Amino acid sequence: MNISITKTTNPKQKPDQNDLGFGQYFTDHMFIMDYTEGKGWHDPRIVPYAPLELDPSCMVLHYGQAIFEGLKAYKTSKGEILLFRPEKNMERVNSSNDRLVIPRIDVDFGVKAIKELVKVDVDWIPDAPGTSLYIRPFIIATDPYLGVRPSNTYKFIIILSPVGAYYKEGINPVKIYVESNYVRAVKGGLGYAKTVANYASSLKAQVEAKHSGYTQVLWLDGIEKKYIEEVGTMNVFFKIDGEIITPSLEGSILPGITRMSTIELLKKSGIPVTERRISIEELYAAHAAGKLDEAFGTGTAAVISPIGEFNWNENSITVNEGKIGPVASKVYETITGIQSGDMEDAFGWTQKV
Ligand code: COI
Repeated sequence: MNISITKTTNPKQKPDQNDLGFGQYFTDHMFIMDYTEGKGWHDPRIVPYAPLELDPSCMVLHYGQAIFEGLKAYKTSKGEILLFRPEKNMERVNSSNDRLVIPRIDVDFGVKAIKELVKVDVDWIPDAPGTSLYIRPFIIATDPYLGVRPSNTYKFIIILSPVGAYYKEGINPVKIYVESNYVRAVKGGLGYAKTVANYASSLKAQVEAKHSGYTQVLWLDGIEKKYIEEVGTMNVFFKIDGEIITPSLEGSILPGITRMSTIELLKKSGIPVTERRISIEELYAAHAAGKLDEAFGTGTAAVISPIGEFNWNENSITVNEGKIGPVASKVYETITGIQSGDMEDAFGWTQKV
């Protein structure tokens, strides 16, 4: 399928690269493609960034049939543009689509759409340290209908946002509130899929945690509230008594691409990672025994974020004296080095635009 391109006649002023924050500025163009039952995905196009016109009865507004992705484009010091494992994001689109009964998208075509859009808005890619162009593909159900069933029409849209660090802490450790009242997901639910509903259900706990001075919430499993799952914007890793542990993916945790890359990277460096269930009691017991050496989160938006403090049931512990540890530093330097083109990509993770 050919992607038609209509350029804006009214380009916007670009924001200051040193004050981007996360997700507040949007580029001049967006990609849109429609799905109609019987016809499939059709009419892929890049058009000027603009509000969407949607019927007030359209199904996404009522039943939340919507999924999204997040990935980034980086400008290297040689001026090349790199994407980090974009095919993995498109594969995850289809896993999320399957869960919400949304028709699949061809992975190669999805990557092509991302690259074409990034090329059109290439001047928007920031190059100050720690910045990138965040790419947000998403799909919404558009049938004007109020009965509960999967939609017969959809829109696949990609928008772009020049960003800095997701957390104001940057690479400094974040403070995490361990949630023991609300739950994010249960097995058999939506937890492994990148659906908008997962994020809607996280907001209440996040607001309460922020109110108490915490950056994010650490979710425990939805049944026993015992096993560690994820932070809503990142997967988590711990170093306990020399062993790197991350919760195993059992259906309720998002299979993060930075998580997968961190595991592959550490394994290649001869540092094995154990994927297993780990309870919050085990984490606190390890801390009490002086064996909790490091904790950090991984995610596209968050990159690698060390965790300096946990608060579980009003009992707060500090990890590595609130400083970033050697494993998180190594993973951060290697992954951001590969993404920005400053380090050799021995894994073949990046793709040129
Ligand atoms: C990402 O890392 O891209 C995410 O999806 C987190 C986002 C909800 C900010």
